[in-house]
Amino acid sequence: MKHVVDEGKTLMVDGPASVRLISGSATVLGAPLHVEEKVVVREGKRLPFFVKKQGTFEWMLGEGASVTEIDKWTLPSSWEDAAKEILCLNKPVTVMVLGGMDSGKTSFCTFLANEAVTTKCKTCVVDADLGQSDVGPPSTVGFTFVTEPVKDLFDIDAEDLVFVGCTSPSGALNKLVEILTQQKNRLTEKGFELLVINTDGWVEGDEASAYKVRLAEKVDPTVVVGIQRENELIPILDALNEVKVFVVDSPQLIQPRSREKRKLLRELSYKKYMKGAKLQSFSLGWIKTEDSIFGVGVPLSRKRLWDLSDLLGKRPIYSEETVAAIFAVLKNNHYISDEEINAAENHFNKKVKVIREGDEEGLLVGLKDEENNFLGIGILNGVDYTRKILKIYTPVNEKVSALCFGQVKLDKNCREIGLSTVYLSKL
Ligand SMILES: Nc1ncnc2c1ncn2[C@@H]1O[C@H](COP(=O)(O)OP(=O)(O)OP(=O)(O)O)[C@@H](O)[C@H]1O
Ligand SMILES: [Mg+2]
Repeated sequence: MKHVVDEGKTLMVDGPASVRLISGSATVLGAPLHVEEKVVVREGKRLPFFVKKQGTFEWMLGEGASVTEIDKWTLPSSWEDAAKEILCLNKPVTVMVLGGMDSGKTSFCTFLANEAVTTKCKTCVVDADLGQSDVGPPSTVGFTFVTEPVKDLFDIDAEDLVFVGCTSPSGALNKLVEILTQQKNRLTEKGFELLVINTDGWVEGDEASAYKVRLAEKVDPTVVVGIQRENELIPILDALNEVKVFVVDSPQLIQPRSREKRKLLRELSYKKYMKGAKLQSFSLGWIKTEDSIFGVGVPLSRKRLWDLSDLLGKRPIYSEETVAAIFAVLKNNHYISDEEINAAENHFNKKVKVIREGDEEGLLVGLKDEENNFLGIGILNGVDYTRKILKIYTPVNEKVSALCFGQVKLDKNCREIGLSTVYLSKL
């Protein structure tokens, strides 16, 4: 069915849906719609269509989708003002975008990138929001060059990614600061005129503020844009020196997304990067493991394995040790008590981490080549600890040299089934 929408109105489309412009003129976050162009709004996502000249639209709504017509443009004028000023600054310009959950960070980054691309500015977006990432799968930091206006950053493939392995920043602060600093340096060498850095929605509380301030100090952006509803960003913005700060409004009609919706969006993103996955085997002898307690040590001597089996009351099916720790795997029906672990730790005078075969099933992994380039993600299907073979579902076809184990568990349909520190080296 055709719908005529007047100039100056906003169509808020909640997906899953597709929208086609038949006549008139409209934009999505600064990206112009072409007549006859069809825009897909993915499930869990909302896109605002701003009508510039009276337009005729046709849309198809999937389950749970909706279209709401708003009598004005819901794009805050403070966004337009900030974008104008930022694009007038001497190039290159680095912009770090801060704001709480569902405040409009991704939309502002998209809008700013679109305004820049429209003026032929060489534009790059880095997405450092591990949870709700649009560039790259969740638990990664990705970047991409934007060469033409885009309605949804999710539609562009990441040019490069760094695997972090968790979907909340709190467990990876140092790593995130390091990754973003390195990425900015690498992109500076590559050359850009505008670099837009999207961040996560974790802004409240001392730890969050300290993290965001440290991030800004290390990455040293030209500009920080704070999307503020009330004054939740004050502790961060007040602590920033020597950086130009823009405080812009959070769009009024934003509906906070439920945990379920946020989870659904993550799962759709895993699915995108798991497309074409098949089960593949990797021998522990041929690949390195990183940030892991598994696959980094040496086998225990016969005597030490004997002692360990004695102390645990069970013989591990796999064990290895480093200077700092012993890692052991028991059959899946073998249980041990904390006392037994303590006894082993006292005996060996080091940490002893014991898991059961199968505890690793579903673990998200990042796969890399020998030049340390990220190749893709995978889901650990299981490990044959006797033959030291890892079975991983992954679409990666290139030669894999290293594996990074994440802390998220997925089922075969990329649905999140929990968190896990099974291979985490931090004891
Ligand atoms: N100007 C706007 N008008 C209407 N809706 C908007 C506008 N800007 C953003 N939204 C909607 O509000 C929701 C949240 O926006 P967005 O995803 O940009 O926020 P975010 O801060 O990146 O959220 P998250 O913390 O999940 O990353 C989205 O559904 C988005 O489409
Ligand atoms: Mg976002």
